[in-house]
Amino acid sequence: MSLIAETDYGTRASKSETMVTLSIDGVSVTVPEGSSVMRAAMEMGTQIPKLCATDSLDAFGSCRLCLVEIEGRPGTPASCTTPVAPGMKVTTQNQRLAKLRKGVMELYISDHPLDCLTCPANGNCELQDMAGAVGLREVRYGYEGQNHLKQKKDESNPYFTFDASKCIVCSRCVRACEETQGTFALTIQARGFDSKVSAGMAEKFLDSECVSCGACVQACPTATLMEKTVIEIGQPEHSVVTTCAYCGVGCSFKAEMRGEELVRMVPYKDGEANRGHSCVKGRFAWGYAQHRERIVKPMIRESINLPWREVSWEEAIAYTASEFKRIQAKYGRGSIGGITSSRCTNEETYLVQKLIRGGFGNNNVDTCARVCHSPTGYGLSKTYGTSAGTQNFDSVEHTDVAVVIGANPVSAHPVFASRLKKRLRQGAKLIVIDPRRTEMVKSPHIEAAYHLALRPGTNAAILNALAHVIVTEGLQNEAFIRERCDMDAFQHWVDFVVRPENSPEAVAAISGVPAETIRGAARLYATGGNGAIYYGLGVTEHSQGTTTVMAIANLAMLTGNIGRKGVGVNPLRGQNNVQGACDMGSFPHELPGYRHLSDDATRSIFEDLWGRELDPEPGLRIPNMLDAAVDGSFKGIYVQGEDIVQSDPNTQHVAAGLKAMECVVVQDLFLNETANYAHVFLPGSTFLEKDGTFTNAERRINRVRRVMTPRNGGYADWEITMLLSNAMGFPMTYRHPAEIMDEIARSTPGFAGVSYDYLDKMGSVQWPCNEKAPLGTPIVHVDGFVRGKGNFMITAYVPTDEKSTSRFPLLLTTGRILSQYNVGAQTRRTENVVWHDEDVLEVHPHDAEQRGIRDGAWVKLQSRAGETTLRAQITDRVAPGVVYTTFHHPNTQANVITTDFSDWATNCPEYKVTAVQIGLSNGPSDWQEEYREMAEKSRRIVNKDAAE
Ligand code: SF4
Ligand code: SF4
Ligand code: SF4
Ligand code: FES
Repeated sequence: MSLIAETDYGTRASKSETMVTLSIDGVSVTVPEGSSVMRAAMEMGTQIPKLCATDSLDAFGSCRLCLVEIEGRPGTPASCTTPVAPGMKVTTQNQRLAKLRKGVMELYISDHPLDCLTCPANGNCELQDMAGAVGLREVRYGYEGQNHLKQKKDESNPYFTFDASKCIVCSRCVRACEETQGTFALTIQARGFDSKVSAGMAEKFLDSECVSCGACVQACPTATLMEKTVIEIGQPEHSVVTTCAYCGVGCSFKAEMRGEELVRMVPYKDGEANRGHSCVKGRFAWGYAQHRERIVKPMIRESINLPWREVSWEEAIAYTASEFKRIQAKYGRGSIGGITSSRCTNEETYLVQKLIRGGFGNNNVDTCARVCHSPTGYGLSKTYGTSAGTQNFDSVEHTDVAVVIGANPVSAHPVFASRLKKRLRQGAKLIVIDPRRTEMVKSPHIEAAYHLALRPGTNAAILNALAHVIVTEGLQNEAFIRERCDMDAFQHWVDFVVRPENSPEAVAAISGVPAETIRGAARLYATGGNGAIYYGLGVTEHSQGTTTVMAIANLAMLTGNIGRKGVGVNPLRGQNNVQGACDMGSFPHELPGYRHLSDDATRSIFEDLWGRELDPEPGLRIPNMLDAAVDGSFKGIYVQGEDIVQSDPNTQHVAAGLKAMECVVVQDLFLNETANYAHVFLPGSTFLEKDGTFTNAERRINRVRRVMTPRNGGYADWEITMLLSNAMGFPMTYRHPAEIMDEIARSTPGFAGVSYDYLDKMGSVQWPCNEKAPLGTPIVHVDGFVRGKGNFMITAYVPTDEKSTSRFPLLLTTGRILSQYNVGAQTRRTENVVWHDEDVLEVHPHDAEQRGIRDGAWVKLQSRAGETTLRAQITDRVAPGVVYTTFHHPNTQANVITTDFSDWATNCPEYKVTAVQIGLSNGPSDWQEEYREMAEKSRRIVNKDAAE
């Protein structure tokens, strides 16, 4: 797929179903009511010159280049701001209009540097194009008078420049920042000749509120806002549509290339998850693919105390297979296992679980979803019958009340946050349930109607209290419940939820949220129109993660907020392909499509396909593998694209487990922290180097397309798994990931209609996609729940065992920030470090004062599990008694202090509640220094590049 410039229709498409017929230049054209004259002309192939208009923004009407004549109307109206009308007769071109347009362009050009030949936008500049389009050949005014040509360039942003001398003050950037991104970082200062674009209060971009989403850069019709890579490399000459490899929003991008060199990533207008928008990570933070620390040759070492030795692919694969076989011969079939990656494609994940089940002959496979959204899968399948969110992202455009619980989409799912904020600016109401005052609670033109700043660990109690209010005040949707839900389960649940311990007053004492706030929020959600719940890891990463997911599901059923646009239960999945990794059978008890291993019929489908008998017994989860390793019965692991030392709880335990193994194989881009304990390193490939699919939080299957040759000698991750499988004696012969998808479609009913050809034709589809739903399923549970009747589950609040005490009086909760991604392996190797080069501890001023801690001071953070040291940031974003940090940097390793407590149903770790104490410190803890030394030592390579 190769396209550079997408068609710009000038103004937005109208969604009206009423059609209007008019005549443009004597040609009859029929368009939806509400379309602009400019758009109608463009629909029939006539491009009216324009500068301030673009179809991603509301029409503004400032440049006066798009003038037309309309029969019976005086003057020359702007076609971008004039809506079509039945019978209208429009003239887009005649001598009068040409003269007017030329005059407008002449004024613009007379205050613009005439350096087109050396300008980075040369060949891709709307100003240049328009000068040509209106036939401007000379400029009568010289540069002697006042002009803007000597303005200074702002190069502070690591990814783009702002060259004010080239600005035509069309305001597209300002409007993009407001309408698309919702940050309001830009303004037009002053009036008339003096008017100019300004970031914040005339600050540098880097010092302003700008979050580097790139929307302004994309909207700019000149070289004023320009990607630095385009300035350095030149204009791209072809592009390939692919999918971002960071978060679960799954934004579509055009990878714009020169040969095999990536010039820039531009959000794809037809991408259905992002609708042409992006965040700083997907748009700009892709430089890690070429980072000098990337490992591109396989390596082996017999012991983790030895340095690495670069070897050929043949040797690395043969060594791994012989080690795994030796271990199984000595310790038994169940002594090895593997971890699939939510960063890899569906096809790659499918192959890893296939290798483990068919090649290793056991079910010791698990995935990082264990530590994030496993409660979502379990909780939603028990209540609704399917392990995924219910809506598409477009649905938010119909939401009247959004509940955001345990999620900070502004940081973790930024493009969805922009879409949600847009709906809120249109008047929808917002309820935030979060211990922190996140950016969702209050930001420009947005304020939550209710912020329930609950004590960490009390989600389930709060949700029960909301349900209590709705039931006791008779606000439930009786008709929906009677028609769609299991009435016995409902009645049983009502008896539970009306109990006094679930009343707002009782819950206020537990959660710290005033009873009236709980009541107000419950009434708003139940009566405010379409109610949609969006939630994140602040719901799942608790000892009651599954209970809370079920409580959310109950609440949506109770109010009838399921099965149509604007409503639903929407887990905001963390990693790009965490939904896909779960769908593809990454859990030890489930085959692809969430079918239990014990089901003979399902097992036989795969046994027939794979030619192997499958073990019907579920295998070990990640924590159980580590426990078994410490106990001496689990000896080898294949970890594809995960860094469990940094991402899993209780780092010491993870390290002890890995140390006890005889063969740890890490397949990744960099020597990550887990590789410190590895014996074999298999260099992985980036999303730019392979074909495949990712499935985002909406169940949307999006294509990932290879734009460059893998740097590791040419192997995509699926090919490496195949090499290993063949060496283990379990043959795999795929020639392309499309063939793997065909196998998935043959074996998994929800994917029966999916193929690469179909995805190329459709762009993307949301599963289930099969005979019953050939176009995919944007919204599930429309006519009935997948399980039949909706099942209300009892969700009694049980306080976590992790309690604050006089020794550990504060509660630590963890999360992410916008510029970094998870364990930071990718984003730390990009310019994004300018925004966040270390993890800090947020402390409320009251708690800081009590301990004599000043902003920026080193503090020791201690829990029952361990201690670490990091700098304090004093802020009232957190409530008194609560501290907060991120986990992006290995120097800090927040998970050194998180505990072994986990969700009762799924073992998802309780990251969000750890009882801690903090106190002043002189600097990093001893272990941090020792760890740094150990990690450095463990990265030595004796024969680096010896073969070259
Ligand atoms: S990069 Fe995004 S946030 Fe920054 S000014 Fe441009 S539109 Fe606004
Ligand atoms: S920076 Fe670009 S988009 Fe913004 S006003 Fe200037 S020319 Fe227009
Ligand atoms: S929102 Fe997520 S998927 Fe989209 S560009 Fe940002 S990181 Fe990538
Ligand atoms: S494009 Fe219509 S006024 Fe600028």
